[in-house]
Amino acid sequence: MENETKKIILSGIQPTGVFTLGNYLGAVRSWKKMQEDYNCYYFIADLHSMTIHIDPQKRRQQTREAFALLLACGIDTEKSLVFVQSHNKCHAEMGWIMDCCSQFGELSRMTQFKDKSAKHPDNINAGLFTYPALMAGDILLYQADYVPVGADQTQHLEFTRDVATRFNHTYGEVFKLPEGYFPKAGARVMSLQDPTSKMSKSDTNPKATISILDDEKTILKKFKSAVTDSEACVRFDPDKKPGVSNLMTIYSAITGKTMEEIESEFAGKGYGDFKAAVGQAVADELRPIRENFARLIQDRSYLEEEMKKGAERATYIANKTLTKVKKRVGLLLAK
Ligand code: TYM
Repeated sequence: MENETKKIILSGIQPTGVFTLGNYLGAVRSWKKMQEDYNCYYFIADLHSMTIHIDPQKRRQQTREAFALLLACGIDTEKSLVFVQSHNKCHAEMGWIMDCCSQFGELSRMTQFKDKSAKHPDNINAGLFTYPALMAGDILLYQADYVPVGADQTQHLEFTRDVATRFNHTYGEVFKLPEGYFPKAGARVMSLQDPTSKMSKSDTNPKATISILDDEKTILKKFKSAVTDSEACVRFDPDKKPGVSNLMTIYSAITGKTMEEIESEFAGKGYGDFKAAVGQAVADELRPIRENFARLIQDRSYLEEEMKKGAERATYIANKTLTKVKKRVGLLLAK
C-alpha cells in the first residue's frame, strides 16, 4: 500500500448523513482518482460531527454508513488507508495540543463558525469554535502534502498552515506544510433550490440536495424542479444566472465537457431538455455507487474488519508525529 516516493494525500468527511452530490463532486470523486498516484489516507470525521447534536444510535449508524459509502464510491482499502477518526486516539490528543497553539482571534474569524453558530444558536459549543484546530491536527499528524477538499474548506487549510508554521517556528521543524487540492470541476456545488448557498447534507429542504443514494426517478425529479431563471438560455454566468451555472458546473464535472461545449449542445433548446440531460448524467454516475452500497452495508463483519485494520495502521503512522510533538512541547513521555 505505502510507497515512500509517493506524496501523501489526506482528507476527511463527516458522518452527518448520506453524502451529497457536492461532497462527491467536490471531494470524494477526486479521492478515488488520487489512489493511483499518491499514498492516500481517508477518514470518517466522527469527532468533528460531535459539534452538532445527533442521536447516539443514529451517529453510530451514520458512521458505519459513511465508511461503506466511501468504499462504494471506489475508495479501495487495498490501495488507501481508510479509517474512523475516533478509532485513532492520536486525533483527540493532537487536537488538544493544537487548541493550545490556536489564537482566539483567528478562530473567531472562521466563516464556518460564524455560519454554523448563526444556524444553531441554541448549541454554540466550544467544539464548534475549536473545530479548525482539531482539523489542523488531523492533517499535521500524517505529514500530508495535499488535502483534497471543496472550496468551503479553504479557510481551514490556511489556518492549518498558519498553526503549523507557528509551531515549527516556536519548537523547531516538525510539520510539513500541507497544500489544498481543489478539483477543477465541481469544487463548489450549490443548492438546487437556492443556488447562492452550497449544497449541504443538513439542508432541511430535500429538493435542494441530491443524495448519492437517491434513485434515478428522484434525481430526475429534483433536477426538473431546480431553480433557474426566466431567460431560457443555457449560458454560464454565475452572478446573473446562478441556477443554470450550477447545473452547468455539475454537468461539466460529470461529462468533462467545457462550458462552451455545453452552451452549444443546448443552444436553441429550453431548460426542460437541459435539466433532463443533467439529471440523467447524474443518475448514470450514481447508479453503481448505490448498487455497491446496498451490497456493502449488508456485510457488517467485513466493514468492521476493514475499520480495525485502518485504525491500527492510522494509529501507527500518527503516533510517530504525536510522539515528536509531545517531546518538542515538553510533555514528559510515559515510560
Ligand atoms: P464535510 O463533511 O462538510 O464535507 C466533506 C467534503 O465535501 C466537500 N463539500 C463540497 N464540495 C463541493 N460542493 C459542496 N456543496 C460541498 N459540500 C461539501 C467539503 O469541502 C469536504 O471536502 N471539515 C471537513 C472534514 C474534515 C477534514 C479534516 C477534511 C475534518 N478533518 C481534515 C480534510 C482534512 C468537513 O466538514 O467536511
